[in-house]
Amino acid sequence: MKLLAPSILSADFWRLGEQVEAVVRGGADIIHFDVMDGHFVPNITFGPVLLESIKRHCHLPLDAHLMIENADKYIPEFVKAGADWISVHIENNPHIHRTLQLIKGLGAKAGVVINPGTSLHVIEEALYYADFVLLMSVNPGFGGQKFIERSVDRLRKLRQMVNSINPNILIEIDGGIKEDNVSDLVRAGADVFVIGSGIFSYEDIEEQTRRIKKKLTALEAV
Ligand code: DX5
Ligand code: ZN
Repeated sequence: MKLLAPSILSADFWRLGEQVEAVVRGGADIIHFDVMDGHFVPNITFGPVLLESIKRHCHLPLDAHLMIENADKYIPEFVKAGADWISVHIENNPHIHRTLQLIKGLGAKAGVVINPGTSLHVIEEALYYADFVLLMSVNPGFGGQKFIERSVDRLRKLRQMVNSINPNILIEIDGGIKEDNVSDLVRAGADVFVIGSGIFSYEDIEEQTRRIKKKLTALEAV
C-alpha cells in the first residue's frame, strides 16, 4: 500500500482547517506535521497544540516529524496531543534505541529520520526496532526545496537494507516530491510519500491530492 502524507507546512494557515479537509476528501492517508525549533533546523514552526486542534476534527493518523533538540522531553506531549506516528532524527538523537522505545511505549509508531548528508549505515541498527524510517530528500527546514537527485539511489539502497533486516518497516520519503517524480520513488521502494508544496501550492488542493493518490494507486498495481 502506497500512502500519501500531505505536509501542512505549505498550507495557508489562515485557512488551515479548510485545507486539511480538502486533502482528506482528496484521499490523503496521513497528515504530516513538520515540527521545527530553530535550533536543529534554521526555522521555527509549531508544537503539539496544533496537532491537538486538528485531531479533534480529523480522523486520519497524524505524523509528527520532530526536527527539534531534546525530543525525549517533548514526545509525551505530542502523543497526548494526538500524534499517531512520531519520528526523530538520527543526527541529534544519539540514544536512538531509548527514544524509539519511549515512543512505542506511549503507543505511537516510532520512526527514525535520516538527512541527505548522513551515511545510511548509521541507521542500520535502528532498523531492527523502528516501525518506519524517513529518508529526507532535501535538507530539513523548509518546504518548497528542490529534490536532491542522489536520494533515488539512497532509497534503493535503503530498500535493500530494510528488506534484509526488517521487511515490516515502512519507508517514508520527504522533500521535493511532486506529481512527476513519484513514479521513480515508487520504483525505488518508498511506501509513504510526504508532499507539501506539490499539493498546497495548487488552487484546487482536493483535486491535486486526488491526482497524486490516483497515480500512487495505479503505480502500486504495476
Ligand atoms: C522539510 C520538511 C518537509 C517539507 C516538504 O523540512 O520535512 O516535510 O514540508 O515540503 P515540500 O514537499 O514542499 O518539499
Ligand atoms: Zn517532514
